[in-house]
Amino acid sequence: MAKITASVYTSHVPAIGVAWDLKKQGEDYWKLVFAGYEYSKEWQKENRPDVVILVYNDHTNNFDFSLIPTFALGMNHEFRPSDEGWGPRPVPNVEGDQKFASHLAHSVIEQGFDLTLCYEMEVDHGLTVPLTVMFGDVEKWPVKVIPLHVNVVQYPVPSGQRCYDLGRAIRKAVESYDEDLNVHIWGTGGMSHQLQGPRAGLINKEWDNQFLDDLIADPKELAKKPHIEYVREAGSEGIELVMWLIARAAMCEEGEEPVVKHRFYHVPASNTAVGHLILEAPKK
Ligand code: DHB
Ligand code: FE
Repeated sequence: MAKITASVYTSHVPAIGVAWDLKKQGEDYWKLVFAGYEYSKEWQKENRPDVVILVYNDHTNNFDFSLIPTFALGMNHEFRPSDEGWGPRPVPNVEGDQKFASHLAHSVIEQGFDLTLCYEMEVDHGLTVPLTVMFGDVEKWPVKVIPLHVNVVQYPVPSGQRCYDLGRAIRKAVESYDEDLNVHIWGTGGMSHQLQGPRAGLINKEWDNQFLDDLIADPKELAKKPHIEYVREAGSEGIELVMWLIARAAMCEEGEEPVVKHRFYHVPASNTAVGHLILEAPKK
């Protein structure tokens, strides 16, 4: 049986990827950001899954405003990094897992979530920046990745509750796979940030940290938080945080306490508050 053994949460600020690619890790500004991932780079060496279900949002790089699926699963065996305006990032292509993705699609759709299935797709900073902060410079990413895109850029976007429920369905789907796979699930995006308008630059440290506390302790209650609160308190792009609920709902049974291996919060990276958590499933 496949099993989810851990979940990882991280902001996916594109400038973090650019800073890494341009080797600015040692600069005062970026040092403080990358310091938060030093533990993670060690942890991943000892805790390497076969496959990561990576929940992220495309920022109109693969999709555009002519077509934005609410939930879309990457079915291919390979995904190239998008060109976001300065050429694709110099990182490896992402290897998928077609057999496992097909099983997930089948099971999750049977449970009532009509995923869009993407047989060709490119992946943007929402997916590649989390891989970089966890794995650093590699010739080949050390895990297979199944991308799960969530629309958080064009309203109406899915509710926290819908994301939580999708996470529960993904857990069932993983556990009904008959191969012994070690699976991690990642939630990316957030934390507070607003990129445009009079409130551009908004950061809300108190709200972000309460979100982290609630995500760890009571995600079921957190799932009830309405969109308007994310946007009012964490900025227009703070809504990306609903994606973390998918990963959190999938990682253990309701009411079970995850093991908090790592927690990091830092302001700023570009316009964003960086949040990062590593939670392991309780050992049974
Ligand atoms: C920034 C953050 C994001 O999450 C994003 O998708 C784009 C830009 C930023 O802070 O610059
Ligand atoms: Fe984003």
